[in-house]
Amino acid sequence: MPANSVFSIRQVSKIFPAGHTALCGIDLEIETGKTLVITGANGSGKTVLMKIITALMDFSSGEVFFEGKPLKQTIKHLRRSAGLVFQDADAQIIGETVAEDIAFGPKNLKLPKNIVEERVLAAIKDSGLEGKDTFPSRNLSGGEKRRLAVAGILAMGCETIIMDEPFANLDWDGVQSVLQIILRLKQDGKTVIILTHELEKVLAFADRLVTLFCGRIVCDGAPEDALNSLKPEYGVRDPRCSYLNVKDCSWL
Ligand SMILES: Nc1ncnc2c1ncn2[C@@H]1O[C@H](COP(=O)(O)OP(=O)(O)OP(=O)(O)O)[C@@H](O)[C@H]1O
Ligand SMILES: [Mg+2]
Repeated sequence: MPANSVFSIRQVSKIFPAGHTALCGIDLEIETGKTLVITGANGSGKTVLMKIITALMDFSSGEVFFEGKPLKQTIKHLRRSAGLVFQDADAQIIGETVAEDIAFGPKNLKLPKNIVEERVLAAIKDSGLEGKDTFPSRNLSGGEKRRLAVAGILAMGCETIIMDEPFANLDWDGVQSVLQIILRLKQDGKTVIILTHELEKVLAFADRLVTLFCGRIVCDGAPEDALNSLKPEYGVRDPRCSYLNVKDCSWL
């Protein structure tokens, strides 16, 4: 296994009890310190893959290693080192208030109180949630909840960050906040894995682009090359289309 892999995924398949094959023979080495974008149409298997590599879902066959160790033997380390932003932001809310929610991760890491406070304040600022410290988390808007999820991960200071549809529900300003965060994580040498079909927002930061189609990897490579090998049936829009006129502003 390559020494610089965070995740090594070998021949992983996932067949749900009802017989639906969500992933089939996935082989993927995810390199340390790189930004990987995984794209694919709705139902192509992005979220299932994310749940499998973070040990939130069992797989039917194959092997997954995190930093060289079989996933099941390293769950505690995985939970501390890899932060997730879920596709469903509501599912991620734990704390009553914004500050309490963000503090949950660093408190769990048993960090000293002053460091937890420092991290919470910095994460609130970086995610654009200033002034919302004592606001009830459940009453945030959809986009604010996503910012909150990103803030929680930032506060944990994880080496690997996995974001499932990080731009869903975000406005222009929210997308920019998340992109600034991604850029900083990248510059800090973190491993960033982004699952999204909104390639036009983030592909500039990617070192590599993987496309899933019906649970299989159909394109994998440098973003430019991977885009050049897209086929219409994959259901992924090439983000290099331009919008110079209003009449271009349609995905039809
Ligand atoms: N718990 C489950 N039981 C049965 N089938 C499931 C389950 N979770 C996911 N699937 C199926 O697995 C396939 C892949 O789902 P997944 O959520 O990974 O898609 P996705 O690529 O993340 O899609 P989206 O872009 O809509 O988020 C889908 O066909 C889905 O219906
Ligand atoms: Mg998904």
